[in-house]
Amino acid sequence: MVDLLHYRSRGLDAMNKRFSVDINKYIKGNILELGFGEGKCLLELCKYSNVDVYGINNKKEKGVYCKEDLMINAHKWSISNFKLPNIYFYDISEGLRFSDNFFDTIISQFTVHYVKDKIHLLEECWRVLKPGGNAFLHLDTLPTIFIPYIMQRNTETPRLVIKKNNQIIKFSDHLKSFSNIILADAENSVNNRVLYMNKENSDNLNLGLQFNENATIDLLCEEDFNVPPIYWGIRSVYDIE
Ligand SMILES: C[S@@+](CC[C@H](N)C(=O)[O-])C[C@H]1O[C@@H](n2cnc3c(N)ncnc32)[C@H](O)[C@@H]1O
Repeated sequence: MVDLLHYRSRGLDAMNKRFSVDINKYIKGNILELGFGEGKCLLELCKYSNVDVYGINNKKEKGVYCKEDLMINAHKWSISNFKLPNIYFYDISEGLRFSDNFFDTIISQFTVHYVKDKIHLLEECWRVLKPGGNAFLHLDTLPTIFIPYIMQRNTETPRLVIKKNNQIIKFSDHLKSFSNIILADAENSVNNRVLYMNKENSDNLNLGLQFNENATIDLLCEEDFNVPPIYWGIRSVYDIE
């Protein structure tokens, strides 16, 4: 079941458990969190010296309308002595409003699931990463209680579907020609998928996938948490170009 108290306030500890590397080692320079929720991770990042922290949400969650509002949450989590992060509110499906080669590190958990054009977002992450920069993205989650038929067809990445001649191609297979992008199970859960991206040079990334907006569906049919949280996020569909 969804933990009602924490589903928008996970911190760096949760992020670290998800990935097989110590994220703390990558906290330097300019760092971006996609989908910062109520800002716990962002605030914890701000405690590090020599970092400039950025975050994007599409919604103003729980009273966080501007960066100063994060002070209230910092107090709630007993986080003090930090420089406020730079926060923005827009849909990351439409792109990242930063210049090329800007970030050292990008992190995200429980957010890409909700993004409509996931591949565009991944290509955008690549664009805004500096050469040598890294992205640690929690990409997808398979329901554990009951897997609806539409998600059973692609249990590796149920919300990211790639088709060729009407056959589903596994994202990990598609990524075989991209040596610096690795899809893996999360360290703490075989039902969660994470993506590691290491940008080797300043070239743009083209994953060779055409967004099929007509086949893409919003899975959220019930916002009432009294029912199992099965249908949440967006099932994004792509055709191989
Ligand atoms: C389930 S919450 C997770 C928050 C936090 N990462 C955590 O794990 O506690 C998802 C967050 O992503 C943001 N989000 C969802 N879809 C987004 C989108 N398309 N563009 C930008 N932010 C988005 C929401 O505003 C929300 O705060």
